[in-house]
Amino acid sequence: MHLLEVRGLTKHFGGVKALEEVDFRVEENSIVSVIGPNGAGKTTLFNCLTGLTRPTKGRIHLEGADITGSSPHRAVRLGIARTFQNIRLFREMTVLENVLVSQHLRIRSGLFGVLFRNRNFLRDEKEAVERGLEYLALVGLEGAADVTSFNLPYGDQRRLEIARALAAEPTLLLLDEPTAGMNPHETSEIMEIIWKLQKLGKTIVLIEHDMRLVMGISESIIVLNHGVKIAEGPPEAIRKDSLVIEAYLGKGTLA
Ligand SMILES: Nc1ncnc2c1ncn2[C@@H]1O[C@H](COP(=O)(O)OP(=O)(O)O)[C@@H](O)[C@H]1O
Ligand SMILES: [Mg+2]
Repeated sequence: MHLLEVRGLTKHFGGVKALEEVDFRVEENSIVSVIGPNGAGKTTLFNCLTGLTRPTKGRIHLEGADITGSSPHRAVRLGIARTFQNIRLFREMTVLENVLVSQHLRIRSGLFGVLFRNRNFLRDEKEAVERGLEYLALVGLEGAADVTSFNLPYGDQRRLEIARALAAEPTLLLLDEPTAGMNPHETSEIMEIIWKLQKLGKTIVLIEHDMRLVMGISESIIVLNHGVKIAEGPPEAIRKDSLVIEAYLGKGTLA
């Protein structure tokens, strides 16, 4: 079954065609990568999917329902969570608090519970902490729950971003360059985390530059260039695709 279907997605910023008639589908529980040179429209695609940017044209369907133009808050409630290319954490909060903030979007007791700290609130809060620790364990940060976020090493901050997105309990997880700035060892660890998340039933779309990771993990790869989808398919096909090779010429070869 298709979890996500994007049809004719177009986003223009004035004269800049960030996305132009982009079509693709993402199968439930799959791992899909979006690749392409800088400025290709990859982040804009994520921004459209998460309601941060309203598309100029085109439709986005999640589980068959048209969600085009949803607010960011609604996108989260519908089950789409993301990480950002540039890390966005609450730097002064602890690692666990960062995860809890994200989870509060889903806590049942709601505003009244928060205001009056009633029994439901306390029960929910305890559950939230337990679940928060589970999300941290998934990304290997269980030992760092009480560390102030700005004291985390860079690679751990990127992992915390993933834990924070998980706390929103998404079905569709969008990762924008999750291994940016990481060494090969840290990159392999991210790969393991992504596989673990797939086993837990998540569907994952990632924007990635590390070709070893892309070729090793993706069931399908979408290639954007100047806002246009120039290729889509399994790693073996993308590696040989002449349009893709051309788009990357002079920008490093495809591994
Ligand atoms: N908010 C914006 N306002 C104007 N232009 C933008 C905005 N966001 C992105 N763009 C432009 O759209 C194009 C695609 O950008 P982006 O989606 O960030 O590419 P990528 O993530 O593939 O590097 C670029 O030319 C970029 O300058
Ligand atoms: Mg980007």
